[in-house]
Amino acid sequence: MVKALPQLGAGRLIVVEGIDGSGKSTQLALLQRWLVNQGYPVRFSEWNSSALVKQITKRGKDRRILTATTFCLTHAADFADRTERDILPALRSGGMVLSDRYMYTAFARDVVRGVEPNYVRQLYRFAIKPTLAFYYRVPLEVALGRILGGRNALKYYEAGMDLGLSDDIEESFRLFQRRILQQYELLSKEFGLMVIDATLSIEEQQAQMRAIVKPKLEGVKRLSKHGKVSLLR
Ligand SMILES: Nc1ncnc2c1ncn2[C@@H]1O[C@H](COP(=O)(O)OP(=O)(O)OP(=O)(O)O)[C@@H](O)[C@H]1O
Ligand SMILES: [Mg+2]
Repeated sequence: MVKALPQLGAGRLIVVEGIDGSGKSTQLALLQRWLVNQGYPVRFSEWNSSALVKQITKRGKDRRILTATTFCLTHAADFADRTERDILPALRSGGMVLSDRYMYTAFARDVVRGVEPNYVRQLYRFAIKPTLAFYYRVPLEVALGRILGGRNALKYYEAGMDLGLSDDIEESFRLFQRRILQQYELLSKEFGLMVIDATLSIEEQQAQMRAIVKPKLEGVKRLSKHGKVSLLR
């Protein structure tokens, strides 16, 4: 059973948040490379990727039978599985965990879908508090410009079509993302998220992130060339 309010352990947990197209995955991949090059053991975890729940969520999405409640609960189950199976063990062993989206994604999306804000927060109370939670703040049109040009067709739930905002999937996506962006702005204050200006160049943002992460690495173990754990700095 998940114990309430688990401790971080000896490791560090760094998470990235923001609307679609804000540049989270780009920045996290660069951060991961930087950490690995320095010998830190890094575990990567991604939203909606747990082997336990993925198929159920996929079936629900493909058949369009997920409601706001079941959408919320399946994603919470996914998060719980990754927390217990991946995130907690890696942190307890003193490693770095990088998470592409975290509970704040649920706080934004589920609330936009009409789930009670306190309910979602209570549901995720088993979540480990991150060492650093970055929020990539970007105007809606910038994010839309980045993704609508270069990506495959939007999916039903991704565009928030279940909310009935518009029959046009692109328009629905815009309206849905706008509401999610409003939630992120509130969340950044509520949880003290570390705001990054995501309109800056990839390099500038990465330099800022590394400067913020660096002091948090003090005392974190590294792997030696032979794969052994060491505390050498
Ligand atoms: N600072 C930037 N300036 C210009 N383009 C960028 C910047 N950062 C990322 N991009 C580009 O924007 C697109 C979306 O970036 P990315 O996949 O990192 O976003 P994301 O926040 O992870 O989106 P999603 O939530 O959909 O996974 C990619 O094509 C990426 O190369
Ligand atoms: Mg991404």
